[in-house]
Amino acid sequence: MSKFWSPFVKNLVPYVPGEQPKLAKLVKLNTNENPYGPSPKALAAMQAELNDNLRLYPDPNSDLLKNAVAKYYGVQSNQVFLGNGSDEVLAHIFHGLLQHDQPLLFPDISYSFYPVYCGLYGIKFDAVPLDEQFQINPADYAKPNGGIIFPNPNAPTGCLLALEAVEQILKGSPDSVVVVDEAYIDFGGETAITLVDRYPNLLVTQTLSKSRSLAGLRVGLAVGHPDLIEALERIKNSFNSYPIDRMANVGAAAAFEDREYFDKTCRLVIESRDKVVAQLQAKGFEVLPSAANFIFARHPKHDAAGLAAKLREQGVIVRHFKQERIAQFLRISIGTPEQNQALIDGLGDL
Ligand SMILES: Cc1ncc(COP(=O)(O)O)c(C=O)c1O
Repeated sequence: MSKFWSPFVKNLVPYVPGEQPKLAKLVKLNTNENPYGPSPKALAAMQAELNDNLRLYPDPNSDLLKNAVAKYYGVQSNQVFLGNGSDEVLAHIFHGLLQHDQPLLFPDISYSFYPVYCGLYGIKFDAVPLDEQFQINPADYAKPNGGIIFPNPNAPTGCLLALEAVEQILKGSPDSVVVVDEAYIDFGGETAITLVDRYPNLLVTQTLSKSRSLAGLRVGLAVGHPDLIEALERIKNSFNSYPIDRMANVGAAAAFEDREYFDKTCRLVIESRDKVVAQLQAKGFEVLPSAANFIFARHPKHDAAGLAAKLREQGVIVRHFKQERIAQFLRISIGTPEQNQALIDGLGDL
């Protein structure tokens, strides 16, 4: 706190990202990164771009990447918005499309950045409780609202909402923007991008940080009706006209083109997830059904904070949220088979 801070800054409650430890030897299963590296083709494209052209600003419209995304999803390039990570895309969505008189709706247990953006942009919200099984119930969202947002699969639960249920939410609020945050969709779900041509109020966000293993590059996107995209472009061009740098433009486009590597690495993560779930269940954990690259698990006899501390002593870090309802859960990212084994060994005999 300083006398130079405005009252606005004094009242902000910022998001706290998962720890990024400096020690290289830790088994890092706390921020849902991909254990496999980016596509070698993406790396080669970025290496080729490391040249004298870096003195020049990048393409403000990132046409190369927009076209790659549009081609991949079978949409027009004016239906695609790009940002510096999907966090930035989400920030512009909150700012430009979710600020209304009625409250924004999102699940009580979901991405903890949503209430932070509400604080930043002065948006009223109503946290809608997940049901007893930690699932989203579409009927709970059929009430007056100024917008709806939810991750699918949800985070930190990992639970997937079927596409028909997403459609039910869209149909229940045809006059509100409905944002489906698909950061983890490639690990077991079906994207709602196939619905954007039928629902002008639908906006789907995705990231290259998870299934395309480029968290360090910071690229995220949104797909929706051109009118929604235009609103986001207006915000972006009033904030930072060059969110996608030269490396990101070519690297992310090459990652979208390397379908084979993407399919292979997603498959490996899914296979490992199934194995880790079975191993944790054998130790007595209850594991929520996950369609993501992480799992959410609790043990009936062991305190979650205690388990996280015990794992940490053995060099394995997982994420523990103190929030009510989920304080006894651990969120564990899926790593390589060796990292997953370190987790299982670290838990020991429970
Ligand atoms: C649900 C959800 N949405 C969005 C993001 C943001 O990802 P990024 O800014 O890396 O694209 C995350 C990151 O963990 C997430 O869990």
